[in-house]
Amino acid sequence: MHSIDHYRKEFISHLQNKVVTKEPNGLYDPIAYILGIGGKRLRPVLVLMTAEIFGSDYRKAMDAALAVEIFHNFSLVHDDIMDDAPLRRGKKTVHEKWDINTGILSGDAMLIMAYQFFENYENHVFKELAKVFSVTALQVCEGQQYDIDFETRDDVTIPEYLKMIAYKTAVLVAGAMRMGAIMANASEEEQNNIYEFGRNLGIAFQLQDDYLDAFGNPETFGKQVGGDIIENKKTFLFLKAMELATTEQQQELRHLFSIQPNDTSIKIKTAKQIFIASGAAELTQKEIEKYTQNAMNILLEMNIDLDKKKLLEIFALQLMQREM
Ligand code: IPE
Ligand code: IPE
Ligand code: MG
Ligand code: MG
Ligand code: MG
Repeated sequence: MHSIDHYRKEFISHLQNKVVTKEPNGLYDPIAYILGIGGKRLRPVLVLMTAEIFGSDYRKAMDAALAVEIFHNFSLVHDDIMDDAPLRRGKKTVHEKWDINTGILSGDAMLIMAYQFFENYENHVFKELAKVFSVTALQVCEGQQYDIDFETRDDVTIPEYLKMIAYKTAVLVAGAMRMGAIMANASEEEQNNIYEFGRNLGIAFQLQDDYLDAFGNPETFGKQVGGDIIENKKTFLFLKAMELATTEQQQELRHLFSIQPNDTSIKIKTAKQIFIASGAAELTQKEIEKYTQNAMNILLEMNIDLDKKKLLEIFALQLMQREM
């Protein structure tokens, strides 16, 4: 095994070699832009690490890792349109820098490019990867639809929320790990275990993304802090606060999440105060720990070397400590 940093660096140089801009520039420049402005590269690193954990050379998994990262970035370009987000990785979002039509078409092209990278594998591997990818990509769409539906619903439950984030976010983390395992010809059981590890980690990851969206440092977060509050997103923070806050605070929160004020600063400030005062902020942290621990327990049961478990554990701990 190598260090997490090694996988990331190797992946980035692979990406730089394979993603080149060409004509028409209006289509390809935004693709090079979004793939070039950074990001944590978590999913491709997981593909590479998982391939090696199950005994393959990570270099064989490079194109699968690239497919996953391009798909992820496609989903972000469209997500930023849907969420009306101005910032991504500290830079303008694609639809802000260009326009919405550009975001739609460049996003579409990225989805197709992602698929294309699987063609570089022999037939049976291609078929298995494509199957995982298709199921996963559809679930991501389903999760995204629930996320949007929930904005205008005021009866969303916590189980519904958990299903929504499992679909929009966790299945891609899980699917990335299954793809790494497929590259290494891992057994069905090994694939399922690592998938479950990834799914739990992915749920913790989205819970934390929601937490940082409200309480992150604008200097490091790279996205508009408070964006979920502005968009009336039914996050764990909101749902727990609606469960635990005083009747007065609940009324206030319900009201705030039904309006779209021109000046959003008071809405954001008040919502955050209620998230903290109700105990929802602290409970969100606990929930992040719970799902990370679930992932760890799955890992403990797996029949892989200790150094490999250690590396995945470090990866999970780094995720919990992140500020972006
Ligand atoms: C953002 O994913 C979308 C979510 C699922 C929360 P990341 O936080 O992995 O985004 P980048 O690629 O590092 O920017
Ligand atoms: C995004 O969830 C999940 C997908 C892009 C599929 P969010 O909307 O919370 O992601 P960010 O916060 O914009 O990165
Ligand atoms: Mg978003
Ligand atoms: Mg979104
Ligand atoms: Mg978010």
